[in-house]
Amino acid sequence: MSLQSSLRCLWAGMALCAGASLWAGEVEVLHYWTSGGEAKSVAELKGMMAQRGHTWRDFTVTGGGGQNAMAVLKQRVLAGNAPAAANIKGPAIQEWAELNVLTSLDAMASFERWDEVLPKVVADQMKYKGRYVAVPVNVHRVNWLWANSAVLKKAGVATLPKNYDEFFAAADKIKAAGFVAVAHGGQDWQDFTVFESVVLGVAGPAFYDKALVKLDRAALSSDEMKKSLEVFRRIKGYTDDKSLGRDWNVTTEMVINGKAGFQFMGDWAKGEFLAAGQTPGKDFTCSAAPGTDKAYTFNVDSFAMFQLKGWEAQKAQGYLAYLLMGKDFQEKFNLRKGSIPVRLGMPMDKFDECAKTSSKDFVATSASGTLVPSVAHGMALSSAQQAAMRSAVSEFWNNDKLTVNDALSKLLAVSAPKQK
Ligand code: BGC
Repeated sequence: MSLQSSLRCLWAGMALCAGASLWAGEVEVLHYWTSGGEAKSVAELKGMMAQRGHTWRDFTVTGGGGQNAMAVLKQRVLAGNAPAAANIKGPAIQEWAELNVLTSLDAMASFERWDEVLPKVVADQMKYKGRYVAVPVNVHRVNWLWANSAVLKKAGVATLPKNYDEFFAAADKIKAAGFVAVAHGGQDWQDFTVFESVVLGVAGPAFYDKALVKLDRAALSSDEMKKSLEVFRRIKGYTDDKSLGRDWNVTTEMVINGKAGFQFMGDWAKGEFLAAGQTPGKDFTCSAAPGTDKAYTFNVDSFAMFQLKGWEAQKAQGYLAYLLMGKDFQEKFNLRKGSIPVRLGMPMDKFDECAKTSSKDFVATSASGTLVPSVAHGMALSSAQQAAMRSAVSEFWNNDKLTVNDALSKLLAVSAPKQK
């Protein structure tokens, strides 16, 4: 056996080299992928692990956006019973690594040249003090607007809105035709998903970065932020009165079934349209949220690997990490998940037009400096700051008595710790 294949055997749980069952182990994986499209994507992964004889144990905590999952994960790790892997994203990876509970994937990463096959912005987030502790599986674009083609046609909306004047004109027509103009699920992470797309569309990516990522006080109290809050609140007038607490996928179903015209949501929503047998460009459309076609809010799902006792468990975990970065998995999983492969240089011929646009725009915005991390999806702020921002924005969305200035003060209060 060559040195190269011997090394690969080490972290791939020997299963690549020996009879599968001999070296098989169990992986317990924390995730929150329970909707139709998500479950189909995760089934691809389970199938691939099973092919090598490994047993997959779901540690599923329902709740879109993963907040519930993170709370349960904390309890489990504190009790000394960590899973093999958990879907943890952005700065939260660093928070977990600081607790010294994650395992280093550096040997595999350097041998498999992860630095060369990953965009730098992603690779940096996977590392703690320069060492890989997590594996990315995809790039989700968050600043999308989904639309039901038949509803738009019936309402007489011929073109997709490129700015908020066009958006509200279209929404008026959809409402007048008897449909819900905007399907929205009233949960704080969904509120923030809409809010960050509005800030991006109203004030642009440089402002987004200053205000929402750097929490710059001048930006947070600026006229651009006021304008964004006004547009955000105006959108609420186009949602239905049963929105509060509704799950994102149930909300997407309203667009799929032709009850609603639009939904602001990341491209995991596409996974739902596809799982329902719909075709992009025909039954539904994906377009950048108004005013954001030259920008891109990215959200990278990644699995952090926890320190485990026991050789079999470690080998199964090693194989999972190896598999996740592989071309085969990256293609099959992302075809279902609605996202694009995070691995560079992957062929996109099997992907639909939405994914091709996303892939092209990811590269273009990365070159032009208009690629920004999604705050709503945990790619920019610490968990504490993110929670505080979410709650400020949701309070404003839910309580019509709060003024734009009230919301500005709440946002400014979140920025205070960063000013020290
Ligand atoms: C995750 C996606 C997931 C979505 C809905 C996002 O934050 O990155 O993988 O599908 O939330 O739960």
